[in-house]
Amino acid sequence: MIKIAPSVLSADFCRLGAEAAEIKAAGGDWLHVDVMDGLFVPNISIGLPVLKSLRQATDMFLDAHLMIDRPLRYARRFCEAGADLVNVHVEADSEENIRKAIAAIKECGKLAGVTIKPATPAEAIVPFLVMTVEPGFGGQRFMADQLPKLRRVRGLIDQAAGDCLLEVDGGVDESTAPLCAEAGADVLVAGSAVFGKADRAAAIRAIRENCRKT
Ligand code: DX5
Ligand code: ZN
Repeated sequence: MIKIAPSVLSADFCRLGAEAAEIKAAGGDWLHVDVMDGLFVPNISIGLPVLKSLRQATDMFLDAHLMIDRPLRYARRFCEAGADLVNVHVEADSEENIRKAIAAIKECGKLAGVTIKPATPAEAIVPFLVMTVEPGFGGQRFMADQLPKLRRVRGLIDQAAGDCLLEVDGGVDESTAPLCAEAGADVLVAGSAVFGKADRAAAIRAIRENCRKT
């Protein structure tokens, strides 16, 4: 069954613990944590101390999306801070260093993910997280032109028969979610489509229901 990962980028940062509890009660599967450094992307969001606090506040699966330059520098520390999955961008360093970052995450006993921006071809690496907006900001419009890439990645994963989840991030809401599900996504990140609604449970349910219909 498809997993829904509400992105705390759209949460109220003053009450993150309560927001996490609400998302858990509302039926969210993972919490997606967007880390931005102002260099790899033009925005700055949150980092290690916030992830650490969040880890203490919730037992939800924490999916850290590192939108930072040279993620090898911090991969291990995000694991130690309590992330369950650490996603790094292939564009953020040399292939060798990205491989080292993945190895470091795995050594910590955590799941490792690689992420590609909209302009990066599927073949860059067998990727796990496909961006359907330019990374950096919540609330952007879904890029439907990324759907063929999603399908292509699904094919690559199935061919490799690897134990690997395909995650989609950006502009996912109740109308674009079924398109992603149909193209082979396993995990959907949704920021504004969940946190922007007063009734988060209804928002998550609507996304899940619409995916089921595909
Ligand atoms: C964008 C982030 C996303 C963002 C998604 O750079 O990676 O995780 O929070 O927000 P929505 O779902 O509002 O596009
Ligand atoms: Zn993200």
